[in-house]
Amino acid sequence: MARMTLGTRNVSIEFPGVKALNDVNFEVSTGEIRALVGANGAGKSTLMKVLAGANPDYTGEVYLNGETVELRTTMAAKKLGIQIVYQEVDMALVPTLSVAENVMLGDMILTADKKPLVSWPEMRRRAKEVLDRLHINVNVRTLVQDLSLAQKQMVLIARAIVNKCNFLILDEPTAPLSDSETAELFRLVRHLQETENIAIIFISHRIHEILQICQKYTVMRNGEIVDTSDVTDKTTTREIIEKMLGRSFEENFPKETVPIGEKVFEVSHLSGADGKVNDVSFYVRKGEIVGIAGLVGAGKSELCKTIFGAYEKTGGTITLNGKELKIKIPTDALRQGIALVPEERRKEGVLVGETVTFNLSAAALDKFCSGAFVIKSRTEENARKYVDSLGIKTPSINQKVANLSGGNQQKVAVGKWMAADCDVYIFDEPTKGVDVGAKQDIFRLINDITRQGNSVIYASCENSELLSITDRIYVLFDGHVMAELETAKTGEDEIMHYSVGSTTQYA
Ligand SMILES: Nc1ncnc2c1ncn2[C@@H]1O[C@H](COP(=O)(O)OP(=O)(O)OP(=O)(O)O)[C@@H](O)[C@H]1O
Ligand SMILES: [Mg+2]
Repeated sequence: MARMTLGTRNVSIEFPGVKALNDVNFEVSTGEIRALVGANGAGKSTLMKVLAGANPDYTGEVYLNGETVELRTTMAAKKLGIQIVYQEVDMALVPTLSVAENVMLGDMILTADKKPLVSWPEMRRRAKEVLDRLHINVNVRTLVQDLSLAQKQMVLIARAIVNKCNFLILDEPTAPLSDSETAELFRLVRHLQETENIAIIFISHRIHEILQICQKYTVMRNGEIVDTSDVTDKTTTREIIEKMLGRSFEENFPKETVPIGEKVFEVSHLSGADGKVNDVSFYVRKGEIVGIAGLVGAGKSELCKTIFGAYEKTGGTITLNGKELKIKIPTDALRQGIALVPEERRKEGVLVGETVTFNLSAAALDKFCSGAFVIKSRTEENARKYVDSLGIKTPSINQKVANLSGGNQQKVAVGKWMAADCDVYIFDEPTKGVDVGAKQDIFRLINDITRQGNSVIYASCENSELLSITDRIYVLFDGHVMAELETAKTGEDEIMHYSVGSTTQYA
């Protein structure tokens, strides 16, 4: 198979106040899996959007097999066989259509030579053919809204390669996936590399994944490429992280010990979220960080949202400081001292059309008011504080959140709730999509919360994170609590044992 090469020569992009790409020279060839790494806001997505024709205002050149090409529309990129699966999977699919329709979506528009293409059997047959070719096991008649995130990801990849595809860009595909789903995605990616001779560009903040699946990695920092190296047996996560951050880095995060007080928050026999939360009981003490462990789909998010009033509670009680809370909707929770940093930031966590300042003040507006008026200088002072402590990369606090990079949007979602004076802060997968440095900034903020005598509930499927920052851990399986563990006395194996639903005592 002929080798094809796609590259950029001195490509730059400027947004108001930000030089997002600065003279970037990047090259990738068919048959390789290439990692693209860098801190939040380094320019990874921006560079990939140039290659996908979605950033038409670039300067410099893009070349394919030595010849300059103009990538000023997404159609132009697709015609050249460059396909991209974006960071936000849900936005690219039509939930109310079937898998077949979603896979063939691009084709329906492309090949309709004025006459609508309506051969459903033909469409289903072609969709099934491509899914089979990739060994993806989903029924083409299933509605996309009924698929798991991992399956949606697969449908998007199938859609990408239904058409000509020589270069496939995957922008943080594994962020929302469980370990087994990630393994399945990697199987597919290897298959594409080996049997279809496709070049895959893979973006991820999980460095161990890069060591696992890529042959080479390219590091970006502040809009520039600072390194491209082979992945060898000797490559370490630490060296990649240090190239990314441009400084030395200690991966282990030291948990700060603060005095732990009385029981302040208690959930008893809680049920709800359409049966996904089942008779859950647990408590949190003053100054304590309590982890909620469990695999993707175990009911962690549902539990968080049921407590917060975003899902309907069908039984049980929630008490704070000895008083039973009446929570019907999220504002009830917030008013009574409970905050939730939700998992799906774009849908629930931030208002992307609003500024950084607005978002960071939104959860605690009354704090910034005098009478009925919001005092602008107070909201700005608050915004500066969190931009600084979370290292939010933005040209100004007046920037619209939509213009921030994915990871920086996540940091805003976290910062937003910090300003609200609450007793209990619930975090649902707060580090998803944030770089390793920013992860530590978030951990530091969580430590600040407990130092002030407040409490934290931390839901995550990253057991290593739970082990490094929590005091106690509850393990969920199928909406039930399987075990309560003391962090200092447990480890990954024991958490795993209960996460898969074992009812036997861990030996
Ligand atoms: N449409 C836009 N308008 C203004 N600034 C933008 C726009 N898109 C990106 N930027 C800025 O360009 C820079 C690079 O962003 P980019 O999304 O490429 O980062 P990234 O490396 O993908 O980060 P992450 O890991 O957080 O996804 C950031 O400073 C971002 O705020
Ligand atoms: Mg990005």
